[in-house]
Amino acid sequence: MRIIETKAEMLAYAAADHDIGFVPTMGYLHEGHLSLVRRAKAENKKVVVSIFVNPAQFNDPADFEKYPVDIAHDAGLLKAEGVDALFLPSRQEVYPHGVPLLTLRYEALMGRLCGAFRPGHFEGVLLIVHNLFMWVKPARAYFGLKDYQQYLLIQKMARDLELPVDVVGCPLVRESDGLALSSRNVRLSATGRKEALKISQALLKAKRDFSRYTQNLPFLKKQLTTDLAPLQVEYASFYDAHTLEEIEDFSKVKPQVLIAVAAFVEGVRLIDNVLVT
Ligand code: PAF
Repeated sequence: MRIIETKAEMLAYAAADHDIGFVPTMGYLHEGHLSLVRRAKAENKKVVVSIFVNPAQFNDPADFEKYPVDIAHDAGLLKAEGVDALFLPSRQEVYPHGVPLLTLRYEALMGRLCGAFRPGHFEGVLLIVHNLFMWVKPARAYFGLKDYQQYLLIQKMARDLELPVDVVGCPLVRESDGLALSSRNVRLSATGRKEALKISQALLKAKRDFSRYTQNLPFLKKQLTTDLAPLQVEYASFYDAHTLEEIEDFSKVKPQVLIAVAAFVEGVRLIDNVLVT
């Protein structure tokens, strides 16, 4: 596996091959990331993974400082998966003039769900993903649907800026007990991990209830809130999966529905969702 640390080297590598599958990450890899790598391997001639903990997308500096890093372990996992190149740029390489003031913004979409609680987060994500696409020049790029809002925004950006890349959304991966995989789970104690299970349990129950009580949205919302108690919930509701608007009446719209939650456990912010059609 080739390790690439500069943009110049990355551009030269990309110029030599035009069928690259790309998995951008912030490292501390788990099965969720590896499922993206495997899909990229199956669909492309070459697979490039990037690891860059992007300071521009952390609205809370303490969260950035605490973000887990283990490059040697990650590199071992990626090598074992047969990844062709690992792009590992430094902060200086990515932001030689500091974080640019340019913002890419979707006003309505970024005002909902995570965007409403993490000002500047998605602007930082779009900036780095846009630039990574410029340097890696992938034919396809793979994103987990656990970060559903992120996936939606990146897909729109690629379409609107006519970036020649297919943005592929891949299923969320869970532990055997249902907990959604996340690099942040490592910060939970054994008790916290048990508490965190409430999130996936509440969501999967909401999905089951949805088919039986579609006509009774207030009941479904109340049930979801009750099932999440006593967690500190940031948002939890039923959303139109295309616009991320909270659904007020299922009889008026029949969209694909996203049931999504963000909640804190032991000060760790966790997100999870399920899609219902
Ligand atoms: O999902 C992530 O890990 C990050 O937001 C991404 C897409 C790698 C951009 O930094």
